[in-house]
Amino acid sequence: RVQLFKEKKALRDFLSAEKTSNKTIGFVPTMGALHEGHLSLIEFAQTTCEVVVVSIFVNPTQFNNKEDLEKYPRTLDNDIQLIEEKFSGGIVIFAPNAQEIYGKEILSSHFDFGSVATFMEGKYRDGHFNGVGTVVKKLFEVVEPDKAFFGEKDYQQLLIIKKLVELTKLPVEVIGCKINREENGLARSSRNSLLSIDDKAESSFIYESLQEAKNNFGIKSVKDIEKDIKFAFENHPLLQLEYFEIANAQTLEPFSESKQEEKYRAFIAAYAKNVRLIDNIALN
Ligand code: PAJ
Repeated sequence: RVQLFKEKKALRDFLSAEKTSNKTIGFVPTMGALHEGHLSLIEFAQTTCEVVVVSIFVNPTQFNNKEDLEKYPRTLDNDIQLIEEKFSGGIVIFAPNAQEIYGKEILSSHFDFGSVATFMEGKYRDGHFNGVGTVVKKLFEVVEPDKAFFGEKDYQQLLIIKKLVELTKLPVEVIGCKINREENGLARSSRNSLLSIDDKAESSFIYESLQEAKNNFGIKSVKDIEKDIKFAFENHPLLQLEYFEIANAQTLEPFSESKQEEKYRAFIAAYAKNVRLIDNIALN
């Protein structure tokens, strides 16, 4: 029932038939180990697209850490089953191998994403966004979707993809989707499956901290909010804070007193042992 393609050519042949009958093609790129967060993107895509392509590809060029790439969960059979259980049709899975996407040499292109790429993930994960840009451009060129759906969970990535579409002039509408959370508030992530039950419970502290920042925004100074959150993480038994930032939702520039009327978000990256977790929240 779910169509599975591992080759570009076969996928393109299938999609070109769908396109001639004027169907709207939606695209949800993923690295697999699918969870409710991914499924919520697919569900949302289905509200406006007759065909939804879900790619499952663990992209080597966006990992700046070899161990992280190696331990990244790979669960294709289970991913297919999840999709078959949840959706009655209209979904195509594209699960290529690295050679199919990159050819013989796995190389990253360089993009000029401008200042949005310089903060947070861009600062702490060298080469990450060039890797993301490289693979998403390639995938867009294969699928040629009308619309592509990305989660606000990776908010900076969403802005980078919008920039990528601007730079490459590909005719794709990029749509942001809200963050899907576990019952305790922890943002769903494929990496959560690497956490013990106890560590998962403790990691809800990330979301609690973001909510606290939101409650205090406009009441306490941003400096004090940052100081309090950093202090709370210093005393946390499990989590190691990598960054906490309050940044402009459009440009990701740090908070500025003279631009209080702009939209801001708070962002956290933290490690639970060797598992890296990120999350963010709208403040105003
Ligand atoms: P991955 O981490 O698998 O995420 C795939 C998509 O699902 C991304 O758009 C991400 O933001 C979204 N997503 C993940 N968890 C979510 C959650 N809890 N709520 C809402 N959306 C969520 O992001 C990537 O893969 C890769 O970088 C990719 C874009 C596929 C390029 O390789």
